[in-house]
Amino acid sequence: MNTSFSVFDTLIDRSKMSSDKWSKYPESIIPMWVADMDFDSPACIKEALTQRIDEGVFGYTHTPKALVKAIQSHLVRRYDWAIGAGNVVHLPGLVCALHLSVRAFSNEGDRIVVPGPVYYHLTKAPLLAERKVEHVDMVIQGGRWTPDMAQFETACAKSNSKMILLCNPHNPGGSVYTKAELLAIHTLAEKYDLLVVSDEIHCDLILDDLPHVPFASLSKDAANRTITLMAPSKTFNIAGLGYAFAVIENEALRQTFNQSRMGLVPSPNMLGLTAALAAYEDGQEWHQELLTYLAKNRDFLVDRLAGTPLKMLHLEATYLAWIDASALPIESPNQFFLDAGVGVSDGKDFGNPNYVRLNFGCPKSTLDDAIIRIEKALKNIN
Ligand SMILES: Cc1ncc(COP(=O)(O)O)c(C=O)c1O
Repeated sequence: MNTSFSVFDTLIDRSKMSSDKWSKYPESIIPMWVADMDFDSPACIKEALTQRIDEGVFGYTHTPKALVKAIQSHLVRRYDWAIGAGNVVHLPGLVCALHLSVRAFSNEGDRIVVPGPVYYHLTKAPLLAERKVEHVDMVIQGGRWTPDMAQFETACAKSNSKMILLCNPHNPGGSVYTKAELLAIHTLAEKYDLLVVSDEIHCDLILDDLPHVPFASLSKDAANRTITLMAPSKTFNIAGLGYAFAVIENEALRQTFNQSRMGLVPSPNMLGLTAALAAYEDGQEWHQELLTYLAKNRDFLVDRLAGTPLKMLHLEATYLAWIDASALPIESPNQFFLDAGVGVSDGKDFGNPNYVRLNFGCPKSTLDDAIIRIEKALKNIN
């Protein structure tokens, strides 16, 4: 008898849930692309939502004070980061805040410094607003992805460089920036007087015993020049409920941000607020179990790919493996995986077509099925 059954082992049929992830490909393909997980949300969230639905009236809703308190406690408990209640800005998602920040704090033609390959909205936000992306290579050092700091300085030093868009923990690649790395980036931000927009949506998904350091927590100067973006959506698998928040400690920046959103970026949905409150108040035990499960899935994947031509580093955070397929004699790694029956994200979308991003936020048996398919396809090209 298998005594170690986990709630995360449960197979959930999402095919009829209008799921983006599960409707992109035919049934024969295991979808492992967009960043949501095939897990049930914690009971505390489902109960809070049910209770709210039962109230039956769904008019305009403001953010409950308790949510701000829960966020403050969460940030102190996990990151030793104390923030004022008035510094939290509630949002219906994080991506809109990336785009808004670029538009609110830079002008057409300005340069935005972005280490990548990276989650595509960090480059899309500048490009769609007619800004220039000053790309900084993420390179492998000590078995993990980290920005090339010489390139970073060159990019920051260019005329019209206005802003750094950081993704910490990094997606894809899963690096948790160390305090030393962040301090080095802050030195550049201060020297060249750049605003930092730090997308920390994956900060609660650290799989190793490593601290997440919010960029803004580094120093008073860092706090003054940083817009921090966070959300419970990835961690508690509630992306469809649309809730994220920004922490903006500098009052002038906060005012500009709020003025720029007016009439364009709405308040978060009432159900998103309800779920976020339940997650931060009562989701800790579930969260810890999730991290243990994801770390096992990561190790399982790393072990199984070792010895194949597919290369994947040990990732410190996220459930998004960044897999190098450049050793394969194939034209499109994305198509190779698809032909194998596994629908991954194309590395091209993040900045490197030789890679794919595979989402292992799923029951281990699903991951195992996918790996078996990949192994079979690898045999067929050898
Ligand atoms: C780094 C990063 N930022 C933002 C998002 C999406 O944020 P939201 O759904 O809140 O707009 C994702 C989703 O994968 C992500 O990986």
